[in-house]
Amino acid sequence: MEALLEEVKRVGYVNEPVADNIDLVAEINRLRKEKNAVILAHYYVDGAIQDLADYIGDSLGLSQQAASTDAEMIVFCGVHFMGETAKILSPDKKVVIPDLNAGCSLADSAPADKFAAFKAQYPDHIVLSYINCSADIKALSDIIVTSSNALKIVESLPKDQKIIFAPDANLGRFIINKTGRDMVLWDGACIVHIDISLEKLQALRQKYPEAKFIAHPECQEHILVHADYVGSTTALLKYVVDSPEQTFIVGTEAGILHKMRQAAPHKKIIPAPASQNNTCACSECPYMKMNTLEKLYNCMLYEQPEILVPEDVRVKAEASVLRMLEMSKSL
Ligand code: 13P
Ligand code: SF4
Repeated sequence: MEALLEEVKRVGYVNEPVADNIDLVAEINRLRKEKNAVILAHYYVDGAIQDLADYIGDSLGLSQQAASTDAEMIVFCGVHFMGETAKILSPDKKVVIPDLNAGCSLADSAPADKFAAFKAQYPDHIVLSYINCSADIKALSDIIVTSSNALKIVESLPKDQKIIFAPDANLGRFIINKTGRDMVLWDGACIVHIDISLEKLQALRQKYPEAKFIAHPECQEHILVHADYVGSTTALLKYVVDSPEQTFIVGTEAGILHKMRQAAPHKKIIPAPASQNNTCACSECPYMKMNTLEKLYNCMLYEQPEILVPEDVRVKAEASVLRMLEMSKSL
């Protein structure tokens, strides 16, 4: 076990070979039962993982599940900050993720020491942080928000309340444009959402003039101004299902198309084009795609890598996340 832990520390995941003849889905199901585990997955992970998850959702839904589950072990197929949020909310449960290297450009954009110095410049401001940040940043924040409740939480605060918004400047700008509030923004961005190409998008819209363009608020302003609808991943999915329209261009990570196509099989769902000529001609999060069935199986079998958060940080971070969960109930 010691050698395994050393290896996990070195490479970030359990690097044990998985036999070719193994039925991974059946084995994952067996381990889930045996270990009383719950598998939580974000819409951006691979379709095969979404299909076996106990719950798939956006960041708000996933944190609500993590806070309320009865399972003994939470297996989080998403990225590191999501596993951390689960541990913050459920400290007595074991939280494991398939690959510790699954980070997030937004979380990485806000190192705690630099953010603390930034915050110190605005002593009369409160800090609202997008959930895509580290536990250390959550501990420095007053309220956490997600893409599905950020607008409403900002609107619920007194008009004269001064606000720092971190780490996503694009989501922050979207909120400023919608609410007219003057917030101080930390300059972070999601590498996936800022890579959507306006030029290619316009060409696609000419090809499909009937299509509705829907987008995530992590996209840049010059993309969002063209959107017929802006929302979190869950809101975008709901829009596709509920809308009488038949064709959609989707401006977010392409993993969500899996669920959209399952939920609305007769509709035409097209990913918004990325500026780089990657293989799928769409936007893929390299971190989310680090979750594979093999790593998921190994992480359930060996219960590694485990997410741990120092208790002093956890307690402070929990207060800001719980404030969000509490505020979300009345919004
Ligand atoms: P939501 O699923 O909460 O909309 O967040 C999107 C995202 O980028 C997660 O990393
Ligand atoms: Fe982070 Fe962007 Fe990947 Fe979401 S899609 S995990 S915000 S890098």
